[in-house]
Amino acid sequence: MRRAVCPGSFDPVTNGHLDIISRANRLYDEVIVAVLVNQSKAGLFTVDERIEMLREVTASYPNVRVESFQGLLVDFCKASDCSVVVKGLRAVSDFDYELQMAQMNLELAGVETLFMTTNPLYSFLSSSLIKDVAKWGGDVSAHVPEVVVARLRQRLADEAGEAGEPGGARGGSEAGGAGGVT
Ligand code: PNS
Repeated sequence: MRRAVCPGSFDPVTNGHLDIISRANRLYDEVIVAVLVNQSKAGLFTVDERIEMLREVTASYPNVRVESFQGLLVDFCKASDCSVVVKGLRAVSDFDYELQMAQMNLELAGVETLFMTTNPLYSFLSSSLIKDVAKWGGDVSAHVPEVVVARLRQRLADEAGEAGEPGGARGGSEAGGAGGVT
C-alpha cells in the first residue's frame, strides 16, 4: 500500500492544509495526517481539538486518517510503515527550513519528503496568521473550514471572558482588545 504522512501542528487546520491533504489523498492509497504533540509550546487548541477538527474536515476522504505523534517524525513514519512525507511549500521563505528537515529525515531514516506547491489561493495562509486576524476580530471565514471558524469564535470568546474583557463571559468593562471572528 502506498502511504504518505502529512505532518504539522495544525493549530488550527487551514484551507491551505486541506488543499495539500486532499491532493495527497489523490496520489496515495492512504494519507496519515500527523499532529505534533509539542510539550514545549501551548497552542490555542489542544491536540485533541485539532484532531477533532481535522477528522471533521477530512471525513469525506475515506483514505485519510488523523493521528497524533510525539518525538521524531521519522519514528512515527517507521511505526506507521510509511517512508514518504508530503509537505506544502508556500514560498521561498519556507524552503530553507523545509529543506533542512527533509534532508535530516532522509539521513536519519531514509524517509523521503515530497513538496507540493501550494495553490496560490492559499500561499499567504498560516495558522498563526489566522489566529492573529481572528483574535482582533477579522473575518477568516474564507481561509479556514466552517468548523474552525466556529471553534475560533468560541475559544476567543472564552479567553476574552477569562480576561474579563467586554463581551466575554465575565463581562468586564476596562480591558479593550480581542473580539470574536466574524
Ligand atoms: O506545522 P509545522 O509546525 O510547520 O510542522 C512542523 C513539523 C511537525 C513537521 C516538524 O516540527 C516535525 O517534524 N517535528 C517532529 C520532531 C522532529 O522530527 N524533528 C526533526 C525534524 S528534521
